[in-house]
Order: sequence, then structure tokens, then C-alpha cells
Amino acid sequence: MRKIAQILPSEITPRIVFEERRKILQVAASGALGSSLMPWFSRDVFAANSSTKLVTIQNPRYSVMEKSTSLEDITGYNNFYEFGLEKTDPAVFAKTLETTGWKLSVEGLVNKPKVFGVEELLKLAPLEERVYRLRCVEGWSMVIPWVGYSLSTLLKAVDPQGSAKFVEFVSLADKKQMPGVNNSVLNWPYVEGLRLDEANHPLTLLTLGLYGEVLPKQNGAPVRLVVPWKYGFKSAKSIVKIRLVEKQPLNSWNVSAPNEYGFYSNVNPEVDHPRWSQASERRIGDPKGFFAPKQKTLMFNGYADQVASLYAGMDLRKNF
Ligand code: MTE
Repeated sequence: MRKIAQILPSEITPRIVFEERRKILQVAASGALGSSLMPWFSRDVFAANSSTKLVTIQNPRYSVMEKSTSLEDITGYNNFYEFGLEKTDPAVFAKTLETTGWKLSVEGLVNKPKVFGVEELLKLAPLEERVYRLRCVEGWSMVIPWVGYSLSTLLKAVDPQGSAKFVEFVSLADKKQMPGVNNSVLNWPYVEGLRLDEANHPLTLLTLGLYGEVLPKQNGAPVRLVVPWKYGFKSAKSIVKIRLVEKQPLNSWNVSAPNEYGFYSNVNPEVDHPRWSQASERRIGDPKGFFAPKQKTLMFNGYADQVASLYAGMDLRKNF
């Protein structure tokens, strides 16, 4: 099995290569490369997208006042290893993800376990648009207008028992739909976890859409998590199971490379990744491209006022 440490970051498409590839795609779309590329471009890149509108209300209280990253970048530059390791892979390969009839089971230490269909999830609470920063552990970031509501609403509906201390999130892992699951880069399924108080924090978003429409497949359709003060990998995509448990869950990245990825994974510019600094980040979509100056990464990704109290008294170097 190839260890994750051997894969990151060398196999990750550098931004400049990605930009070049995108230029080729744009030329192909305009017809300049001849008709042979057109069916591939239109079929694969756009088939993964959905166009179902959602009725949303803005939530300025939980939104950052920054310009949102373009839909093109949000849906074209993704990490979703179930569909490949390259940033462009999910947009191409996630079209095979079948979201019709999706079920999310919420179970474990709860008094009212329940299996939710997506329609039920969409109706459980008013859908809010919240513009959050997303900071990836690899050193890039985006600003994304997500659609959803606080995960706490869903957790309340299943009535957690007093012994529940953590919440585990399990993504779909189906080799038939997800070609990347044949790769032993991670132990599938993709699993993430939060402490119960983190899961119940109002910023933790059960996410069903972005830019006012249902989630594109490459962004984790039909239901994912978004935890804006943690590195992006805590925000599990295409979730099929949420389990309330007593013990700290074993999250996939921590199992694969325990010295590189902890359980907490709070955005922290003062704690370097063992192989690179976390002090700054590159904002995807900057017109200056790869050569744009990096910006300073903020403690808890800029959400310190809201979440720092969750970690009062904890050594955040030890609990990275
Ligand atoms: N969830 C699953 N199931 N599989 C993944 O590979 N990648 C994570 C996270 N959730 C991942 C996942 C990482 S590393 C990041 S940065 C974010 O998803 C990216 O989300 P986005 O593609 O919507 O920006």
C-alpha cells in the first residue's frame, strides 16, 4: 500500500498545470481544437453538475464579507479521492455518482435513530446561504456560498443520549460508482469525526447545496459536512452515515498518516505540517494565478471569535 506521505503533495496537480489544462479545455469548448474534443468536454465536465435550484435565505451573521470564488473554480478544482487524486478528476469522474434515492442514516447513541431521504433533509429546516472560507491543508483556500443549516438541527431530531461524546461521519464507498475506491491511498470508506460540542456548534453546516443549487457531485452531493474553522479534509463529502459514539472516531487521514493529520485539524498558522508551513495560503481564482502573493492564514481560519472557547486550556500543538 502506498502511504499518504508518498502521495502528498507531489502528485497533486500544481495550480499552474491546472490553469494550463483549463485553458486547453476552454479552447476545446470554443471549438478551436476541432470537434473531436467537444463531446468529451461537454459530456464529462458538465455532466457532473446539477442545476436544481434551492430556496434559500441569506445568513449574514455566519457569512464572511469576501468575494466568493467562481463556480467554475469551486466545481473544477476539487479533492474527492473516491474519484481520483488529481484536482480535475472529480469534475470528470463524479458523474457516475448516483444520488437518486440517497439515504443518510443517523444512528448510534441516540434515542430516535432515523434514516433520512434527501427530500426530508431539505425540509428539516429553512435552507440558509452561508459564505464560508474553506482552507485546504495543502495551502490553498476558497470562499464558498454553501447552502444548508446547522448540523445541530439534525442531531437534535435524533435525540442524542447522554453517553454520546463524539460524532462520526462516513462517506459512501462504492467501487461501482467511485473509481478511486480501487486505490489503496486511504482505507475506505472515508471517515471523519468531531467532538459532540464541535458538531453542535452553529457554524458546523449540514450542507445540501452551493451557489443556490443542489450540491454538484464533485463537491459531495447530495449531503456533506462543512466545518469552516478546520482544514477542508474534516468536511466529509457524500455522507451515508452519521454515528453518535462514546469514543473518539478514527478519522481516515489520521489513520493513514498519524504524524501529519490529527483528529482536531483546526486551521492553525502556528503549527506547521511536518512537510510544509501552514502560515499562509493561496486564494484560488486570484487573477494573478500561481504568482499571486500568498495571504496570511488566520487562526481557526478567521473564526476564532466564535470557536476559540471550544479549545480553552488545550495544548493545540499536541492536539493538532
Ligand atoms: N470527503 C471525501 N469523502 N473524500 C475526500 O477525498 N476530501 C476533503 C474534503 N472531503 C475529501 C472529502 C478535502 S482534502 C477537502 S480540501 C475538501 O473535501 C474539498 O472540498 P471541495 O472539493 O468541495 O472544495
